[in-house]
Amino acid sequence: MAEAIYLDGVRDKNVMQLKKLNTFFFPVRYNDKYYADAIASADFSKLAYFSDVCVGSIACRLEKKEGGVMSIYIMTLGVLAPYRRLGIGTKMLKHVLNLSEKQNNISDIYLHVQTNNEDAIAFYKKSGFEIVDTIQNYYENISPPDCYVLRKEVHAKK
Ligand SMILES: CC(C)(COP(=O)(O)OP(=O)(O)OC[C@H]1O[C@@H](n2cnc3c(N)ncnc32)[C@H](O)[C@@H]1OP(=O)(O)O)[C@@H](O)C(=O)NCCC(=O)NCCS
Repeated sequence: MAEAIYLDGVRDKNVMQLKKLNTFFFPVRYNDKYYADAIASADFSKLAYFSDVCVGSIACRLEKKEGGVMSIYIMTLGVLAPYRRLGIGTKMLKHVLNLSEKQNNISDIYLHVQTNNEDAIAFYKKSGFEIVDTIQNYYENISPPDCYVLRKEVHAKK
């Protein structure tokens, strides 16, 4: 039921929700800079609610490039297992894409994903992301340690 899904911003007051969700999704502990970057990205980081329960999150970092252009880096994106395949991940990703297209200084959205994360790779490819690079030994404490870089160009729609 698509109407039951909505997104809310990440703020000091609810950042604990993002912290709790990350312990479910990822074997990595994120540092204070991660959370500061997520809050600083303003509308680019969101919590997803399903019938008033917080079930997913997307956390982005805005990266300045040369000439005033910016990239959006997706630090994390996840949906709790029982709520997957309901379009919640897509809703969060589309939100970030739509927001990027409304600005005229964002060149691309990119992220790293572990090479064995087939679910996530299928998910991002469905939304038009392409594998543009492979980095060996990107992760320190997980196996396989390699990641793909997935990227999607942004074309401003004003
Ligand atoms: C990747 C993830 C965020 C997808 O979230 P989701 O809410 O289930 O995704 P959606 O329901 O929007 O899926 C959209 C499409 O992506 C593809 N997809 C999503 N999960 C898939 C899977 N497990 N296998 C194959 N295709 C998949 C499908 O094409 C799907 O469309 P469909 O359901 O109509 O077939 C979720 O699986 C997750 O949280 N994984 C663990 C955390 C993670 O690995 N995050 C990515 C690294 S940052």
